[in-house]
Amino acid sequence: MRKLKDEEVWHKPVLLERVIEFLITDKSGIYVDATIGTGGHAERILRELNENGKLIGIDKDEDSLKISEQRLRRFGKKVIFFHQSYIQLPEILKRLSLESIKGLLLDLGLSSYQLEKAERGFSYSLKGPLDMRFDQKEVKSALQVVNGYPFERLKKIFRDYGEERYSSRIAQAIVQNRKVKKIDTTKELKDIIQSILRTKNDEIKTLSRVFQALRIEVNTELIELKEGLENGIKALAANGRICVLSYHSLEDRMVKEKFNMLARGCVCPPGYPVCVCGGKKSLMILTRKPITAEVSEIIENPKARSAKLRAAEKIV
Ligand SMILES: C[S@@+](CC[C@H](N)C(=O)[O-])C[C@H]1O[C@@H](n2cnc3c(N)ncnc32)[C@H](O)[C@@H]1O
Repeated sequence: MRKLKDEEVWHKPVLLERVIEFLITDKSGIYVDATIGTGGHAERILRELNENGKLIGIDKDEDSLKISEQRLRRFGKKVIFFHQSYIQLPEILKRLSLESIKGLLLDLGLSSYQLEKAERGFSYSLKGPLDMRFDQKEVKSALQVVNGYPFERLKKIFRDYGEERYSSRIAQAIVQNRKVKKIDTTKELKDIIQSILRTKNDEIKTLSRVFQALRIEVNTELIELKEGLENGIKALAANGRICVLSYHSLEDRMVKEKFNMLARGCVCPPGYPVCVCGGKKSLMILTRKPITAEVSEIIENPKARSAKLRAAEKIV
């Protein structure tokens, strides 16, 4: 088989020019790409910055981070890498003796580089181990979740993180099957899910939802997103900007609600004649509606189809 060129395994960055337009307001500022992946957005950010500008790149995935390090080597000390979760941003900034940053990018979920590697276990269309960890040093993988969680907990994950209507039946089928044999691979899990679906109509959607739900659970994605938004917005300098790219409604809802709450300031119940909470506005929303990809981008990069970009600016 032909050996793939470097660029062929890299993830194609989504809404690249729109991100740059919203994110960079000062070419000599310090920016954070909190999910640097294989470095697509990062490369473009670094090209936009002048010789004084700096980028901090963070990712949980060591393999992706190595690709980024190689790809961005030509930028020298303008870029620095951290193999950590973005929830550790406060510690990272402390270590670098930095008080604030000019901009933060969160490009959520997984990259196509991760999805297309069968051995990472993210894809239902490739046979691999049940893994799904972004950080391979973590102990919990999809194997433990699928084979160890009780029925109720599995059902809840599929319902809450996958918005899957067959949650109960899928959880039940998993529990029945694992009594006979441990479920080791993505293919075994796929077969179990397919065996309980009456028609082929919803097959792809159900498989995507169940795999998404497991990935969110394994990587505590929504819990980390909540903390990451909180810490990230706190770290912004006045007029600093945050850009978030999300790929499903659960993520997008969290981003939208957080931005709205901080842009409103006051959290008093509607109908109160005067504000009693004392909350102050700290964000200005720059994207009243989320930005989505043009058809031409979606044709070239199908992952862009579900992308939603929201951006906001710190005002205090
Ligand atoms: C959509 S990809 C980013 C792609 C990147 N923008 C690019 O252009 O190559 C998402 C990345 O976020 C990483 N990731 C997910 N959750 C994370 C977290 N809590 N902290 C740091 N990285 C995380 C994943 O490992 C993955 O590499």
